[in-house]
Order: sequence, then structure tokens, then C-alpha cells
Amino acid sequence: MNRIVVGPEGEFSLGGENFVVDMSEKDRRPSDAEAFTIVKNEPYLRFYELLASSFSPRSILELGIFQGGSYVFLDKLFKPRRMSGVDISPKPVASLLRYVADMKDRFVHFAASQCDREILERIVRDELADELDFVVDDASHTYEQTKASFEFLFPLLRPSGIYIIEDWGWAHALGYQPSDAPRANCIALSNLLFEQIMLMGSTSLIAEIRICKQLYLIRKAATAHAESPKAERDDESGSIFDQILSRGRKWHAI
Ligand SMILES: C[S@@+](CC[C@H](N)C(=O)[O-])C[C@H]1O[C@@H](n2cnc3c(N)ncnc32)[C@H](O)[C@@H]1O
Repeated sequence: MNRIVVGPEGEFSLGGENFVVDMSEKDRRPSDAEAFTIVKNEPYLRFYELLASSFSPRSILELGIFQGGSYVFLDKLFKPRRMSGVDISPKPVASLLRYVADMKDRFVHFAASQCDREILERIVRDELADELDFVVDDASHTYEQTKASFEFLFPLLRPSGIYIIEDWGWAHALGYQPSDAPRANCIALSNLLFEQIMLMGSTSLIAEIRICKQLYLIRKAATAHAESPKAERDDESGSIFDQILSRGRKWHAI
């Protein structure tokens, strides 16, 4: 595997495509015919590069496409058979639409929320051939929406599949401490991580949770039964988190 080499302007190439890293808070560079914009700097790129050396998903679902750079990056790096992605933005990215149009079994959905179960169910069944191996959630980073996606998608993930949640630690960063900072009134995303740790302790659904500063990875147990995802929920309307055992004690999100 060739190591990705990032240039001084954040530029790199992979699989015949060009990328520009742009981590600005706003007014990020739009993707164009020359290069896709990707909101992942070197620690993220290295994480995925290392993961790709030991994990070969048949399909990928990306939540939070933005300018398409991460979609194309994950596609070139992992080379899945099928790939799909959603973004709530109603504005499609022209260069990404051209990219998927030229390839087999590649799909993107703009104006689609990470919490829309109907769309996600259709994507997994019809576009990913019911073989969901890998989810990358880089969408809202809110506790509620990230949890909603996980509650729905984790039961659909195949045994040994991987679910990644990026930027889980925003509530603990210095810039988010003032009372007028962005998301000041939001529940911290790190609460979800703690709930998933409790779920790992309470059930045999999760084999591993690997936490880095930038993101964390949840690997589903090899023995989990993706063929009967409903069995992973208490009932049709229940949540996977209903299975947490906590000696009857309640905990409160921060
Ligand atoms: C950080 S950007 C994604 C960056 C991209 N994955 C990359 O690495 O280049 C987050 C994206 O998530 C989208 N988003 C925010 N809330 C969402 C939601 N509820 N459902 C789907 N997408 C959402 C935003 O429109 C934005 O494009």
C-alpha cells in the first residue's frame, strides 16, 4: 500500500483522484473539476489508511458527504463493491455526481437526513444489497441524531462490521466551553460513547470500541446476527440501548 503524501497546501492524490484538505470553520473550498475538498487532516487520513490495511468492507455507507472528498477517498482506499452516502444539504456537488455516474453501484443522496430511517433502510436494502459492512458518521455530530442513526443502522451492520463516529469530543474542546459557543445548549456527543461502552458491557453485540482523539470505531461482534436485526432491539419500536444493564441505576447526560 502506498502511503498518502499530503503536500504543503493540503493536496494529495489517491486512485487517480485529487484531493485538497480544508479544515476551515467556514467558507471551505468547493470541490471542482481539479480536486475534491475533504475535511480530514492527516490524523484522520492515517487512521483510515491503517484501517484499510486490515479491513475490506463489501459496502460503505457515509453519513455527511459535504463536498464529496471523503466519499471518494473512502471509495478509493477501501475499494468496496458498493457505496452510498447521505447529506442533509439540498445542494448536490456536481463533481461528485459526475464521479458516481461513471461508476457501478455508487450512490449519493442530498437533502437526506442521517435520521431518516426510510431512506437508510432503502439504501441498505437496494443499494448495498443488504451487506452493510462499514458506516462512517461524519454528519451532524449531535447526540440525538448520531444516536438515532446508530440505533437504526447498527442492527443492520453485518457481523464484524465497523461503525465509525467522527469528532465525538467537541464538548470537551476549549473553544466549546463559553456559554455563547456553538452547540452551548446541546448534549455532548461523548454521552453516546459512554452509552455504547455500557452496551458493550451489557451484551455480546460489540467486540471492540477503539477511541482516538479524532474519532472512534465500534466493531460488531463476529457472532452477532445481522440476519435478524430486529432481535437486537427489544421490539419493533425499541432501542438497542434498552439492553443496557446498570443495576437499575440512572445516569444523566451532560
Ligand atoms: C463535517 S461535514 C462532512 C465532511 C466530509 N465527511 C469530509 O470529511 O469531507 C458535515 C456534513 O454533514 C452534513 N449534515 C449535518 N447534519 C446532517 C444530518 N442530520 N443528516 C445528514 N447530513 C448532515 C452537513 O450538511 C455537512 O455537509
